[in-house]
Amino acid sequence: MARALIAFGLVLCMVGFLYVASRFSEETPAPESQPAPVTPPLPDLSGGPGRAPLVFTSSQQCRDCHSEIYTEWLSDQHASSWTESNFQTFTENYKRVECLSCHAPQPMLQVGIEKDPLLRDTDRTAGVDCLTCHIKDGRVHGTLGSNGACDGILEPQLKTSQACFHCHHTHNLFKEFEASPQFKQGMTCQDCHMAVVERVVSPGGPKRKTRKHFIHGGGHDPEALKKTLSLDLKVEGRTLTATVTNIGAAHGVPGEINNRIVRLEISVLVKQKELFQGKEQEIENEVRAWRRDFQPPPRMARDKIPSTQIMPGEPRVLTFELPVDHGRIEAILTYRLEATLLMAEGVEMGRAEINF
Ligand code: HEC
Ligand code: HEC
Ligand code: HEC
Ligand code: HEC
Ligand code: HEC
Repeated sequence: MARALIAFGLVLCMVGFLYVASRFSEETPAPESQPAPVTPPLPDLSGGPGRAPLVFTSSQQCRDCHSEIYTEWLSDQHASSWTESNFQTFTENYKRVECLSCHAPQPMLQVGIEKDPLLRDTDRTAGVDCLTCHIKDGRVHGTLGSNGACDGILEPQLKTSQACFHCHHTHNLFKEFEASPQFKQGMTCQDCHMAVVERVVSPGGPKRKTRKHFIHGGGHDPEALKKTLSLDLKVEGRTLTATVTNIGAAHGVPGEINNRIVRLEISVLVKQKELFQGKEQEIENEVRAWRRDFQPPPRMARDKIPSTQIMPGEPRVLTFELPVDHGRIEAILTYRLEATLLMAEGVEMGRAEINF
């Protein structure tokens, strides 16, 4: 049995190594040739009252007047959704057309927020950009109704979770969100993912309560991950109960793509006397270990593969039979962005310990 297990382990390692090696040795083909984006000039601002309303064709036209927001957005995942190396690799260098629409979409207010995203024909390198979320018929839409220098038009939907629906509803995330306690309390996606900040929206304007454009709080944010799940251990007789509760996310954890994985690892440790260099010493040995993974199902196989995500407010209760009466238990929860990479390191989400 042990030998068969070792052989099986070796085969797994080989497959893993070959897979990883093949990924790294793969020659990354040059990205699909795209003309470098040219910054179009700002629309004509002269003419005073009565001039034609401004019509925008590129996110770069927003940079000078909204430089703080522009800079935040530049370091956000939305800005790199087209150019990041993972997207290039997994789409086989943009050949998998079914993958492209959400990563460089046409303006959502134009297409209709409630409809599926459509791939745009103009410059795709900016990914999910200012135009994608704010523009309809070339005109800026926002939540201020300020009629500012870019002739903004009021679009109240941008203040609600509806602002995120267009691209994020195709996974299960919105269904999970609408069933969450946080949704019932009136929270929006922005409340957790776009921090409130008081500042001028454009130089010379009034101070306003507005939101940061660095979408934080997801899988790339280790601080948020530490506050997402609670982990609790209890021993009764020979039964260990481990409870993992989703306390910080208003949707399943991990969310929302199948690359992500949350892993619970538990060790049972027992102090045993051992002879070491001629002296008897007390050493703590691992006598049993368990591992449980939580993961969303692949989008295309949602009906066939059950989700093991932990839903908002849900306590996931797991029980294990202990092999001994006394000892110590250590448990750790980690998060991996890349479940497909066998060697990917996890980010710690929480840990717990108990003596019994
Ligand atoms: C319906 C819209 C949509 C389609 C179609 C889509 N994606 Fe995505 N993709 C998203 C969203 C939304 C996220 C962010 C979700 C998250 O981070 O959990 C994402 C995230 C990713 C990431 C993760 C980037 C990171 O941070 O690690 C990769 C890679 C990716 N997609 C590749 C693909 C590939 C390959 C396909 C086609 C098989 C595809 N996408 C199709 C919407 C889409
Ligand atoms: C993923 C969608 C998205 C992208 C991309 C995006 N925004 Fe926003 N933006 C929003 C949302 C949603 C709000 C409103 C947040 C709130 O107050 O609830 C907002 C608010 C604003 C505001 C404040 C005024 C207002 O209407 O609330 C400005 C100015 C703004 N965005 C400019 C930009 C610029 C410039 C870019 C590109 C650098 C950009 N946005 C990219 C979604 C987006
Ligand atoms: C010439 C400078 C200028 C340019 C260019 C510009 N804006 Fe503005 N924008 C402003 C000013 C000024 C305001 C009003 C700010 C205020 O009242 O606090 C504003 C307001 C806004 C608002 C709020 C609209 C509302 O009234 O609800 C949004 C959203 C916005 N801009 C996004 C953009 C985007 C996206 C671009 C690029 C496509 C852009 N802006 C280009 C100066 C500019
Ligand atoms: C037009 C499509 C679109 C809209 C609208 C949109 N997103 Fe995204 N979002 C994406 C894509 C595509 C990705 C994946 C980016 C990448 O490749 O890493 C993503 C990634 C994310 C991530 C993952 C970031 C991370 O750290 O991994 C979060 C969180 C997120 N979006 C939240 C939001 C919120 C909140 C809103 C609404 C204010 C929103 N999105 C609106 C398309 C969109
Ligand atoms: C109560 C706070 C909260 C609310 C509300 C919330 N989220 Fe999240 N979200 C989180 C936390 C915490 C995580 C990180 C853990 C995880 O990935 O599940 C996360 C993760 C994500 C991710 C995955 C990021 C990644 O890197 O894989 C996306 C996408 C996302 N949220 C989008 C949304 C959208 C869209 C909404 C609104 C429908 C929303 N969230 C509402 C707390 C929240």
